[in-house]
Amino acid sequence: MADLRFDGKVVIVTGAGAGLGRTYALLFASRGAKVVVNDLGGGRHGDGSSSKAADDVVEEIRRNGGTAVADYNSVIDGEKLIKTALDNFGRVDILINNAGILRDKSLVKLTDQDWDLVHQVHLKGSFKTTQAAFPIMKKQNFGRIIMTSSNSGLYGNFGQANYSAAKMALIGLAKTVGIEGARNNVYCNVIVPTAASRLTEDILPPEVFNELKPEFIAPVVAYLCHDSCQENGSVVESAGGWAGKVTLVRSNGALLRSSIQDGVTVEKVAQNWDRITDMDKAGTFGAIQEVTGALIENLEGLKTSDVSQAQDSPDVFDF
Ligand code: NAI
Repeated sequence: MADLRFDGKVVIVTGAGAGLGRTYALLFASRGAKVVVNDLGGGRHGDGSSSKAADDVVEEIRRNGGTAVADYNSVIDGEKLIKTALDNFGRVDILINNAGILRDKSLVKLTDQDWDLVHQVHLKGSFKTTQAAFPIMKKQNFGRIIMTSSNSGLYGNFGQANYSAAKMALIGLAKTVGIEGARNNVYCNVIVPTAASRLTEDILPPEVFNELKPEFIAPVVAYLCHDSCQENGSVVESAGGWAGKVTLVRSNGALLRSSIQDGVTVEKVAQNWDRITDMDKAGTFGAIQEVTGALIENLEGLKTSDVSQAQDSPDVFDF
């Protein structure tokens, strides 16, 4: 297979001064892209700022013969990052929303500030950069956007209520951005990484930490951003040299009414609980229209079911 390259493409990587973002920036640059290396250069908890993190990565890219420019803005000012790309390279093709912080505390101890800062950086920041880049991408009929989620968002994690809420929200954002951009070849996907970085250095056991190089994940992100990749609105988990698609599944469920006249009672829910939660015949839906379609099919089924049986239970709103 010929090398998948990014010549002529302008890539913005947020939080590219360290960890995963740095690795993404280096890979894109090594494959011909011009890279905006964004990093606020703050602490792990969102404190402080410094130009050093971004500068070091830009220098490394240039040393390797690549093209890059630093941007020190917070992603919360997303439009400024896009301006940096336009001012320096005249376009923006690929946006990797990667910047992140942690402010872990158990639910009761979380302050408003812990909640707001984490949401600002992860969710609002991704919204701001994406909103600013989106019209440019649509106009040029090409764009690839990545959101960064986390298993903490997908499954929850003790002490990360703020972070997991923001990380799951990014999946909703990505899916809608993908839908709104699809007609103009602007696709948006989500990466769920697990990698050795300063965010995970005291969370992952040392023997696992060493096997989780960001370099194992960067090619997955790069492929999702290539012209040839038609994936859109997907969530892809990757770690340690493995990648797989993640999707929501829904059980086949149970109809809680036997006819259109029938009502739903708490007892019927209880009696059907095993079927409601039976995942044996669980399925996935590709779009909201499919979910609505399944709902309408259920209602149609009720209309054609035995009406005489329904007359025995006239409790349509039996709360
Ligand atoms: P990292 O801490 O090594 O890198 C994050 C970078 O974002 C830092 O250089 C930091 O200065 C920058 N940053 C923070 N706030 C910023 C802001 N407001 N504007 C611009 N830059 C800002 O972390 P890591 O591990 O590389 O994480 C990257 C992304 O991957 C984050 O979104 C994180 O939540 C996510 N993630 C990481 C996992 C892991 O195992 N490392 C697991 C799941 C998700």
